[in-house]
Amino acid sequence: MNKTTARKPLNVLITAGPTREYVDPVRFISNASSGVTGFELARSAAKNGANVTLISGPVIIKPPEKVRVFFVGTALPMRKAVDKFIKKMDIFISSAAVCDWRPEHFWRRKIKKSSKILRIKLTKNPDILKSAAEKYHLTKTFVGFALETENEIENAKNKLHRKKLDLIVANAPENIGSGLASGFILYPDGKIKEIKKCSKSTFAKIIWKEIKKTHYDKRKKR
Ligand code: CTP
Repeated sequence: MNKTTARKPLNVLITAGPTREYVDPVRFISNASSGVTGFELARSAAKNGANVTLISGPVIIKPPEKVRVFFVGTALPMRKAVDKFIKKMDIFISSAAVCDWRPEHFWRRKIKKSSKILRIKLTKNPDILKSAAEKYHLTKTFVGFALETENEIENAKNKLHRKKLDLIVANAPENIGSGLASGFILYPDGKIKEIKKCSKSTFAKIIWKEIKKTHYDKRKKR
């Protein structure tokens, strides 16, 4: 038996897609995200023999086979699901476009357009990835995504360190809703790997390979 087949299957938790924070029964604020990259990562990891749990916001794509999927609507149940599953996981890949804010007040009935201006007060949602990594970064591998409109590398680097991650994927808004993707993988030691434009399935395969290697390297050092 070689070294790879002798390894126990990895337990991998992935969040994907956007969250929707409702203002009234028909309106919400959200982030642009199709969920494709997260679903493709789940597919790659599952094909590679990992036990994958996927927590997804509202998306219109089909979940991959052999993946345990839970759908949530907003950031708070997404955090609850992560808190529930994280303990048994080896790797957490946070690809969800979590809405940073939610309306402070939820109108039970549809808001009528009676006034010229409608002011909606927003309150901050918890940072799901940051709080999980703060608690478990010594024993598990944490992966984040940074979607940036400017200073892509610099901003992603800050998030990598601030959130105690093992790697982060920096990418630009051109990837949203596109079948193609490109980006950079950043590591805490300053190493950067570029991923040139490719299909989202190839994008996910490259990222998964890097995550796996990072995880085993980290485990060896423990
Ligand atoms: N994330 C999270 N919970 C949040 C916000 C973000 O888990 N409330 C995760 C995302 O899934 C992603 C990483 O944190 O892996 C970075 O998300 P991003 O939105 O790029 O960064 P923020 O920390 O929200 O910072 P900003 O919006 O100011 O760029």
